[in-house]
Amino acid sequence: MEILKTTSQMQAACGNFRRQGKRIGLIPTMGALHAGHLSLVRAARGSCDVVAVSIFVNPAQFGPDEDFSKYPRSLEQDCALLQADRVDLVFAPSMEEMYPPGTSTFVAVEGVSERLDGASRPGHFRGVTTVVSKLFHIAMPQQAFFGQKDAAQVAVLSKMVRDLNMDVELVICPIVREADGLALSSRNAYLDRDHRRQALVLNRAMARAQECALAGEHSSARLLQEARAIIAYEPEVRIDYLAAVNPETLDDVADVHEGALIAVAAYVGPTRLIDNLLISKCASV
Ligand code: PAF
Repeated sequence: MEILKTTSQMQAACGNFRRQGKRIGLIPTMGALHAGHLSLVRAARGSCDVVAVSIFVNPAQFGPDEDFSKYPRSLEQDCALLQADRVDLVFAPSMEEMYPPGTSTFVAVEGVSERLDGASRPGHFRGVTTVVSKLFHIAMPQQAFFGQKDAAQVAVLSKMVRDLNMDVELVICPIVREADGLALSSRNAYLDRDHRRQALVLNRAMARAQECALAGEHSSARLLQEARAIIAYEPEVRIDYLAAVNPETLDDVADVHEGALIAVAAYVGPTRLIDNLLISKCASV
């Protein structure tokens, strides 16, 4: 496994693989890797010849009062995990390498970037779309792998790829959960024992939404009310948003049908977590 620190090294390595006719799969990450990231590595290994993982805590997607400085960083441990999973390339650039002084070009996807996390975290998705477009230009992968846990990010990046005619296929992999249902996230490292227990309510709320849809409830208002009631069992969990939306546009839907996205963001103590569910089945009424 090669660990590359500069954009020119990464461009050269990916260029070499492309000239040999190899398919490159890119997994953009911010490190602090867990089993969710490793499921993306396995998916990439299944359909690409070369698996490349980028590790970069992207300052442009953090707001001024967010956790950029304390975001977990564990490059050595991350590289050991990736080596064990037979990753070919790790791209771990410095801040100056990704954003040289004077950088003034940004990518913004209007509309969808202002919904859900974009509404709560102004400028967040502009940071995400900028860094992901840069990574796409540097690695020029055939496929790029993202987790469904960041459902709003998936919607924004899919629109960016369509709008800018980017020649890359986004592969979206299912949410990976702990045995008790907690969605894996690098930010789970912030949770103490009690907060971790409280956080389980988010998955329970999603499960309740699915149950209601299965029982024939199509009204988003009523379905969200049921999910909200589950979250209320944990008074220290503060909802940021809980919404039923179209998964592509992130616009609210009044009626929930198969494929609708139920998404939640909530503060568990000081930690903001997200979770979601794509309604898989609805009973007809
Ligand atoms: O999902 C993430 O970890 C980040 O938003 C991403 C896609 C790596 C961009 O920094």
